[in-house]
Amino acid sequence: MCTMGKIIAIAIPKGGVGKTTTAINLAIALSQSGKKILLIDLDPAGSCSSGLGINKDEINIDIFNILQFNASFQQAILNTGINNLDFIPLKHLTYLDEIRLGKVASNEQLFKNIIRPEALSYDYVIIDCPPYLTGTTNSALVAADSILIPVMPGQFSIDAVSKIFSHLRTIHRTHNPELKIEGILLTMYEFNTNVSFAAKKELFRKYPEHILNTSIPKNATVGEASINNKPLLIFEPNARAAKAYTKLATELMERKDLFSLVRSA
Ligand SMILES: Nc1ncnc2c1ncn2[C@@H]1O[C@H](COP(=O)(O)OP(=O)(O)OP(=O)(O)O)[C@@H](O)[C@H]1O
Ligand SMILES: [Mg+2]
Repeated sequence: MCTMGKIIAIAIPKGGVGKTTTAINLAIALSQSGKKILLIDLDPAGSCSSGLGINKDEINIDIFNILQFNASFQQAILNTGINNLDFIPLKHLTYLDEIRLGKVASNEQLFKNIIRPEALSYDYVIIDCPPYLTGTTNSALVAADSILIPVMPGQFSIDAVSKIFSHLRTIHRTHNPELKIEGILLTMYEFNTNVSFAAKKELFRKYPEHILNTSIPKNATVGEASINNKPLLIFEPNARAAKAYTKLATELMERKDLFSLVRSA
């Protein structure tokens, strides 16, 4: 039995569907269950820092420095003030930096070779990815044990799920035969609307095995937390969406079998 922390990439090629909110609050919920967690921001937008209430101007060392061998892994770890939760940020990138990061990320094995030995010190490593499939998303998927796919109700998001499934099959074949699917997570779900119901029905029709039991409700407190520069689970642990993230953490910890990509092909 491998004792290495499980590396979960949170990714889908669609913007604004709750990837970062999920990465942060799932990481906190797991850490509150006593698990040792590392959260890594791999989105050049650097939203995880703001979501954790960290001022981006105060970040000196980030994952980009590690990928360029300018800093050690330990040097880049930020204290989040939350027990059991380490964080490696990505600071604001200039246009040129973003091009450099793209070049560094095109060496798909680099991130994997750096992260996998470090994952030994954690129970879970959660990676927030950008809303596209190239660049750092690929680095994350090559290194990851599994992918969690957040989907907000709506046709464009469902199209993005089929796009990522076909991409995952390529990654599985070419770079990471061990990659599994943690599950599809419905986010910003509205229990009383036709759009949410239709999206859920369509997802169950297309991916009957992959939908997680937990879904995250649309909840205004998520926005209030971000205006207050606090993660939802710290700002209002009793909010409906916060409780859903705690439930999601429990569901993932209790899971035995992950979905194999081969079966879904
Ligand atoms: N459950 C929720 N209820 C209401 N609003 C939410 C919920 N989850 C996320 N949001 C809001 O939706 C917006 C997008 O969320 P988030 O930044 O997590 O998405 P993302 O997929 O990471 O976006 P990007 O692709 O830009 O990185 C944010 O304003 C966030 O506050
Ligand atoms: Mg994001």
